[in-house]
Amino acid sequence: MKLTIGILKEQAAERRVAVVPEVVAEWVASGAEVFFEPDCGLGAGYSQLAYEQAGAQMRSRSDIFALSQVMCSVQPIDEADCPLLRPDQVLIGMYQPLSRPSFIDDLAKTGVHILSLDAIPRITRAQAMDVLSSQSSIAGYQAVLRAAALLPRVFPMMMTAAGTLAPARVLVVGAGVAGLQAIATAKRLGAVVSAFDTRISVKEQVESLGASFVDVEGAKEDRSAGGYAVEQDADYQRRQQAALADRVRHSDVVITTALIPGKPAPRLINQAMIESMRPGSVVVDMASTSGGNCELTVDESVVVHAGISIIGSSLLAAEKAQDASRVFSRNVQRLMNLCMGSDGFILNRDDEIIAGCLLTYNGSVVWPGYR
Ligand code: NAI
Repeated sequence: MKLTIGILKEQAAERRVAVVPEVVAEWVASGAEVFFEPDCGLGAGYSQLAYEQAGAQMRSRSDIFALSQVMCSVQPIDEADCPLLRPDQVLIGMYQPLSRPSFIDDLAKTGVHILSLDAIPRITRAQAMDVLSSQSSIAGYQAVLRAAALLPRVFPMMMTAAGTLAPARVLVVGAGVAGLQAIATAKRLGAVVSAFDTRISVKEQVESLGASFVDVEGAKEDRSAGGYAVEQDADYQRRQQAALADRVRHSDVVITTALIPGKPAPRLINQAMIESMRPGSVVVDMASTSGGNCELTVDESVVVHAGISIIGSSLLAAEKAQDASRVFSRNVQRLMNLCMGSDGFILNRDDEIIAGCLLTYNGSVVWPGYR
């Protein structure tokens, strides 16, 4: 029997699409039947014609639910879609199990199997499936562009007949995937960049991008945290605040990306630090959905305080929807490859990657990180 795959149109603000036509063409060539919802790729710049030329067939949303074994989306399906689901269907998308546990319970009851892309274990073998990385890279880039567009100064040093303009100073807090891309982008635009992270292991990467690393000694690093940050003690936090206060005061742009898995984002930039910045300066808080790194951040808003703009956004990757969708869709394809074989689509629960991101199975919530 042919594998049937549906591509859903996203709701409201989401401009990305989970699968782009180039991946459709590869699935069709491998014998799958692919359905797409009208206008699913429009927000990301992929036309209906492009999907049709890749071999997909256009169907209404309810027909896609009726016809597809696997359905792909960026964001979770809508609650209103639940009555359309059938047992044994597979949903692939960013279901963020910790943010809406009761919705995951409801989905489990329908008998669908959910593979949540944001829960894929961050192991080497899963790197090509890691949507958090692929989207964070684009978001880090876009954070710098947003800041550069808003800042009333230029980023590079400019020598003109009317005088020399000093380069902008950019501070990046958190040098993970998003932070490193933000550093690289700000450097390319000519800013003087410094960066800070509690993981001393990233110092070398920061310096190799031409930025300076703000050293605060004594950070706790935990090997068992899988390369991630862990919470710091009160003494370290005090010293970190003092070092940051000094840097923030001298920065035109601050980009914060600091996250600790499973915990609220650490509060690193307080109101007094913001007020010490020059009017016109810009803060981009990329941790806004997890509570924000800056005391004044409002998620999905731009707050102006004492002339300083604080952008809180978790949808920065979606602003570059075409490329964000292209890499997202490759992530989806790699995950699908784990399940597609000569015996059809099989969820091998002994595979560490499948076990790590499978939220619901045969009517129950099975995700190891749940409750
Ligand atoms: P993240 O989004 O969880 O955190 C962003 C950054 O904030 C991290 O560098 C973290 O150390 C930093 N941070 C946390 N608390 C902080 C504080 N109080 N002050 C300053 N900085 C703070 O991390 P991300 O970017 O998703 O990845 C972190 C690491 O995970 C990578 O560098 C890599 O080692 C690993 N990784 C592994 C992958 C794989 O193997 N599949 C994929 C992606 C990342």
